[in-house]
Amino acid sequence: MACAFSNTCRAVIVFIWAALTPLIVHVASATNISIHVAASEIERQALLNGGWWKDRIPHNTSDHCNWVGITCDYKGSITHIELVECSIKGELGSLNFSCFPNLQYLNLWNNNLSGSIPPQIGSLSNLKYLNLRWNNLTGTIPTEIGIFRNLEELYLPSNKLNGVLPQEIGNLKSLIWLSRLFLGCNQFNGTIPREIGNLKNLTHLSLITNKRTGAIPSTLGHLTSLLYLDLSSNQLHSFIPLEIGNFSALEDLDGTIPPEIGKILLLQNMDLSQNNLSGTIPLTLCCV
Ligand SMILES: *[C@@H]1O[C@H](CO)[C@@H](O)[C@H](O)[C@H]1NC(C)=O
Ligand SMILES: *[C@@H]1O[C@H](CO)[C@@H](O)[C@H](O)[C@H]1NC(C)=O
Ligand SMILES: *[C@@H]1O[C@H](CO)[C@@H](O)[C@H](O)[C@H]1NC(C)=O
Ligand SMILES: *[C@@H]1O[C@H](CO)[C@@H](O)[C@H](O)[C@H]1NC(C)=O
Ligand SMILES: *[C@@H]1O[C@H](CO)[C@@H](O)[C@H](O)[C@H]1NC(C)=O
Ligand SMILES: *[C@@H]1O[C@H](CO)[C@@H](O)[C@H](O)[C@H]1NC(C)=O
Ligand SMILES: *[C@@H]1O[C@H](CO)[C@@H](O)[C@H](O)[C@H]1NC(C)=O
Ligand SMILES: *[C@@H]1O[C@H](CO)[C@@H](O)[C@H](O)[C@H]1NC(C)=O
Ligand SMILES: *[C@@H]1O[C@H](CO)[C@@H](O)[C@H](O)[C@H]1NC(C)=O
Repeated sequence: MACAFSNTCRAVIVFIWAALTPLIVHVASATNISIHVAASEIERQALLNGGWWKDRIPHNTSDHCNWVGITCDYKGSITHIELVECSIKGELGSLNFSCFPNLQYLNLWNNNLSGSIPPQIGSLSNLKYLNLRWNNLTGTIPTEIGIFRNLEELYLPSNKLNGVLPQEIGNLKSLIWLSRLFLGCNQFNGTIPREIGNLKNLTHLSLITNKRTGAIPSTLGHLTSLLYLDLSSNQLHSFIPLEIGNFSALEDLDGTIPPEIGKILLLQNMDLSQNNLSGTIPLTLCCV
């Protein structure tokens, strides 16, 4: 009997538990609600402070989840921001990226955003898709870009970004899901970092029209999933690493490699029908 409760004891405990349980649940859910409200209010304020939604808030709508270009999850936290061709002006950094912990999709394609890509963009730890193409962004790619654990697609073409491509892109091996990396039509210089070979899931890589110099790193040969590679209009040395033979797509390339090889290296799977990729390869994503 030493460690067993009497039935009376048990009943009392059950009674106390039953009496307290609703209270506990009530307190917990009230706390959760207030946390959620506070969190979504922070996000709403961040949108307002950014200044991009002034004309994009439907009348009488205090709920930012209904604003143009905003999608929320069931808790009212923003998961998608999509303002494409919205003539947004001003600094990209005017949106406080620290305030959107659940953002998965950020598409600001074809606006007039200026300034640099703020390091705070690294706080978007759930980001899967980032498109800043066709803006007026300057400065370098912050090394924080390397910490996106979930990023699948990164589009930065047609800005005025410069500097060297940060090694962090491949160094931390965080970007294991990255399949599309488009950095064309900027002013990046320096060599292509060898670390790019760590991006094993890369299917599309474009560095077209930058000021890259040096050799094409042999580590590109590790990118065995690559379907589309465009390094044209750079200042790369004229030789193709042997490892390029590792690209499965190469077999389809007879006669399609242009004579200015080295400067212009265009690997693309020409047989789209066979691979059922029509419409999904953004062959003209850059500069057009
Ligand atoms: C409160 O939130 C926590 C963590 O998100 C969750 O585990 C718990 O089930 C929630 N409680 C209620 C009553 O919603
Ligand atoms: C909100 O709606 C009310 C009537 O429903 C209207 O009087 C008011 O002007 C509206 N406010 C705005 C900002 O549209
Ligand atoms: C960007 O600004 C320029 C000049 O103000 C304007 O002509 C152009 O249409 C704008 N582009 C977009 C996409 O808003
Ligand atoms: C951005 O938001 C974070 C978190 O809410 C806050 O700590 C920080 O001060 C904000 N930054 C600016 C520039 O408002
Ligand atoms: C783009 O940035 C340059 C300065 O780098 C500025 O002169 C130009 O007006 C900007 N264009 C737009 C459309 O904002
Ligand atoms: C690449 O993608 C596949 C699924 O498509 C996934 O299983 C794998 O873990 C990803 N990462 C690497 C480094 O292969
Ligand atoms: C890249 O260009 C910047 C100026 O935009 C220059 O300071 C730097 O030395 C260049 N780096 C390389 C590796 O060419
Ligand atoms: C080519 O692919 C093979 C098998 O995937 C791999 O062992 C080899 O290291 C690759 N070559 C280079 C230099 O990338
Ligand atoms: C091609 O892909 C589409 C959808 O992506 C699918 O419906 C179709 O069955 C595929 N065709 C072949 C031949 O695999």
